[in-house]
Amino acid sequence: MSKETNRLLGHADEADGIEEYDNPLPDWWVGLFWFTIVWAVGYGLWYHVIAHRSEVKQLQDEMAAAAVRWPAPSPVTSSTFTITPDEVTRGADVFAKNCVPCHGADMKGVIGPSLIDDEWIHGGQGAEILHTIANGVLDKGMPPWGTMLPPEQVRDVAAYVITKNSEATGRPISAIMAPPDTAKGAGGADSDSTAGTGGGPGSAGATAPPNGEA
Ligand code: HEC
Repeated sequence: MSKETNRLLGHADEADGIEEYDNPLPDWWVGLFWFTIVWAVGYGLWYHVIAHRSEVKQLQDEMAAAAVRWPAPSPVTSSTFTITPDEVTRGADVFAKNCVPCHGADMKGVIGPSLIDDEWIHGGQGAEILHTIANGVLDKGMPPWGTMLPPEQVRDVAAYVITKNSEATGRPISAIMAPPDTAKGAGGADSDSTAGTGGGPGSAGATAPPNGEA
């Protein structure tokens, strides 16, 4: 380290006689300076490109882990939603335990409306009925069952309601299960007013699109 030191810059004239040395920075300091630059480039490369770490990636990883731990309820649409005799039997049980006080054992309605007539406030297609049951109509007193019952039970009870409705009205199940009609549309618009009341990842029907297609 034989550097020239204590060389004056020689600007005393302009600075009221104040002089200044032009001493070189210590090698260790300059070394550190360059090292941080090289380190920053290397670390940046490693972080973003090699290890691929970023807050976005971290969030995505956490969301993926959460999706595994709390799987989204399978989207219940009329295409994935088939009606089997087993479901109807189980659905009758779910209905007896949860729905009778408001809809009546005969389904003709008590506080809630009849479920075995042709009139539907929130749409009478399979996907719409399922949607109403799952998301409820909180301000009208229909609870969001998707947050209280497992998705299978919501489907089962919907299957039961649909089957009973079909028996009472003579409307074929295949017609009820057809995707909600875009030409009619009124039912879909109605059930939109319930959007968000069910809320939360536990809500079975929340992901069912109004047109019944996944
Ligand atoms: C606390 C009372 C209550 C309970 C319990 C209840 N409901 Fe309801 N339900 C209602 C009311 C009130 C409505 C009408 C909502 C409206 O006017 O928008 C309704 C509406 C419905 C509709 C839509 C009817 C239509 O015309 O669109 C379906 C389907 C339905 N309920 C099914 C069920 C099922 C299945 C259960 C049991 C899992 C159940 N409900 C339990 C009160 C209840």
